[in-house]
Amino acid sequence: MIHLTSVDLKKVKAETLVIPVCQDKQIHDDATIATLVRIAKRLKEFKGEKGDQISLYNLPDVKTLRVVFMGLGKLEKVDMEALRATAGKAVMEAIKKDLSNMLIAVPAAAALNMEIQGVLESMMEGACLGNHLFDKYKKEKKHKPLKKIHLLVSADAIKNYRKLSDRIETVCQGTILAREWVSTPPNDKKPEQFSNSIAQLARKENLKVTVWGEKELKQKNFGAILAVAAGSRNRPRMVILEHHPKKTANTIVLVGKGVTFDSGGINLKPSGSLEDMKLDMSGAAAVAATLISLARLKSKASVVGIIPVVENMPSGDASRPGDIINSFAGKTVEIGNTDAEGRLILIDAIAYGVKRYKPRILIDLATLTGACVVALGEKIAGLFSFDDKLAEDIFLSGAKTHERCWRMPLPEDYKELLKSDFADLNNMSSTRYGGAITAALFLSEFIGETRWAHIDIAGPAYTKKETAYCGAGGTGFGVRLLCDLLEKL
Ligand code: BES
Ligand code: ZN
Ligand code: ZN
Repeated sequence: MIHLTSVDLKKVKAETLVIPVCQDKQIHDDATIATLVRIAKRLKEFKGEKGDQISLYNLPDVKTLRVVFMGLGKLEKVDMEALRATAGKAVMEAIKKDLSNMLIAVPAAAALNMEIQGVLESMMEGACLGNHLFDKYKKEKKHKPLKKIHLLVSADAIKNYRKLSDRIETVCQGTILAREWVSTPPNDKKPEQFSNSIAQLARKENLKVTVWGEKELKQKNFGAILAVAAGSRNRPRMVILEHHPKKTANTIVLVGKGVTFDSGGINLKPSGSLEDMKLDMSGAAAVAATLISLARLKSKASVVGIIPVVENMPSGDASRPGDIINSFAGKTVEIGNTDAEGRLILIDAIAYGVKRYKPRILIDLATLTGACVVALGEKIAGLFSFDDKLAEDIFLSGAKTHERCWRMPLPEDYKELLKSDFADLNNMSSTRYGGAITAALFLSEFIGETRWAHIDIAGPAYTKKETAYCGAGGTGFGVRLLCDLLEKL
């Protein structure tokens, strides 16, 4: 779908040419493009400021019907995300105009003071991620994704970066897969359906797939998962995906929270907090999509995804506040609040991952707490780890892919807040403050000596409003970050 191309604009016909423009510097090497930019900048309404945009038709010298100029703002402010957003916005707007092809002029890396790889990567990502619609549930499909997107580059860039576009496309397809799972309504992704969907796609990529139902979960003593699932007629699953390119023991385990709908259970959420709770399997979606992407990329990393899938519902069978349960690890937990269900299913999955795989690193992703959204807003994930190197690596991957993470503390003395009078732990903190931290500390009780990081994606997993390269709904947060990270760990 995304291709690198090097053509002479004077000769080649194109439906739409997109040219990113800086306000204070000429950033294109191609003389024809530089001339077009000069023409656009003669107009008062286009200065190349961030957000400026103008479409001109039938310009001299080029065979392109339509040229869209997009302002990047000041050169010093241009980074990978600015390029990603510009390419994404160009594609999303073209879709709304029912266009089908697009040629995007890639600025000269040297003029931007950037690496050529970074420039290409970000523009390909923006274009690929922007070229997605979730309209499965609309009877009338108003628009279609673009059929072809070409990035206009120099001839030698094509030779050197052909492989790069394959990789970027695969990873972005992974992000889009996660988005679609998250955006799917909860009546169509009950645990059985969601886990079947994961298993089916994973088998196609030759991942090793294990799916356990209630019987196996009982046999193996996953008491915390079963306690969360108790209230729903839609019975739980545990999905395990394994990517082992070689017979190495050096496995990395990823764990993803898979609550297909979080009503809160007996501690029922109020309206306003319920409507988007289909998003509560975003960690699971990111982990599953990452494993599928790693298989497609033929990654050398040995990675296992552990995905507990449940629905959290109130009913006569539901777990009650005050119940004490036996977790897989053997520790007892008093359920202080049935809406703190994520940490319950995660401790069983984490404890299993540690015991079975003895991984060199374990990372979990979860839409775990509203408190994390209060702390960091809707665009930045909370990052928790005792391990400085691992935290730094995750932070850097997130900065690169613009799936931003911010490290939060894990203060030992806050563990006090999770004490129970009757059980080993309470799943609810005794104070309402610092909820993202106490949730992470609760998980930390189950990691043993394993190098571990927890990423609370409650904010960035979902967007109510369309952004530069993502429509409303699931964002696929984490897939690009993990694919980048796993290459370097
Ligand atoms: N799934 C929610 C967290 C959440 C909130 C995700 C908002 C996305 C957006 C989680 O299971 C939950 O309900 N957490 C409670 C914990 C509390 C009961 C200790 C919360 O954050 O209020
Ligand atoms: Zn909850
Ligand atoms: Zn939840």
